[in-house]
Amino acid sequence: MSETPPPRILLFDSGTGGLTVARAVAEALPQAHLIYAADNGAFPYGAWEEGALIERILAVMSLLIAKSRPDLVVIACNTASTLAIWRLRERFPDIPFVGTVPAIKPAAALSKTGVIGVLATPGTVRREYTKALIDTYASHCTVILHGAHGLAALAEDKLYGKAPDRRQILREIRPVFRKRKGRQTDTVALGCTHYPLLLEELTAMAPWPVTFLDPAPAIARRVVQVLAERGRQPGEINGAVAPSTLMLTARPVAERVLDAYAVLGFANHMVMPAS
Ligand code: DGL
Repeated sequence: MSETPPPRILLFDSGTGGLTVARAVAEALPQAHLIYAADNGAFPYGAWEEGALIERILAVMSLLIAKSRPDLVVIACNTASTLAIWRLRERFPDIPFVGTVPAIKPAAALSKTGVIGVLATPGTVRREYTKALIDTYASHCTVILHGAHGLAALAEDKLYGKAPDRRQILREIRPVFRKRKGRQTDTVALGCTHYPLLLEELTAMAPWPVTFLDPAPAIARRVVQVLAERGRQPGEINGAVAPSTLMLTARPVAERVLDAYAVLGFANHMVMPAS
């Protein structure tokens, strides 16, 4: 029997969106101990003012890291990654961080028409980081950046059992569907980890078929690579199910919120108030 303990991976988001990334990481590393942390006390991040959000993220991450002692952290949130990942790397130099940023590079590579949409939170579309990704990887494309105000909340509600209002979904996504000089949007990067939870509704309500890009599989591959670079093998577990832990920053409003996390593999929870 191997002595290698499974790596401890902390995945962080403002809410349930990062579960789309957790799912991909669990598939790639079924032995890993996943610790999922949601700053549900501050959801949604997309509406926060930048300075206050940086302070919030640094404070919450300090608590989470002290408590969970991770081998690697995944910031499974575009809004937090595009704003604070380098500050987190500076603050915690011994821990590798894998971020989540809008999949603009793959979208530009995949698009045949050269018209790509980027759906993200209002915070993410304002970031210099996002603009730099466009300048670097998609300057040959027409890029339609759109900050959706209510999509992340619709995704949360769906997970808690409330059917999303499809007309509202159409209003939220309509701006990235553009026709120009005989060319139209054919690829849409989902720049918020909540949005893949709505893939079925996004596909049904799209004015015409497009490829929606979910970055989760690429993030999972990066996690495997970074752990390997640090000499961390997947490790072994004695039981059939790898351990998993859920950390929240506020008591959930209803029992069904915890049920939703449990269905996705996070049954053991602790509440760690952050103020
Ligand atoms: N899931 C987060 C992201 O990827 C944002 C949701 C929120 O607004 O809190 O950007």
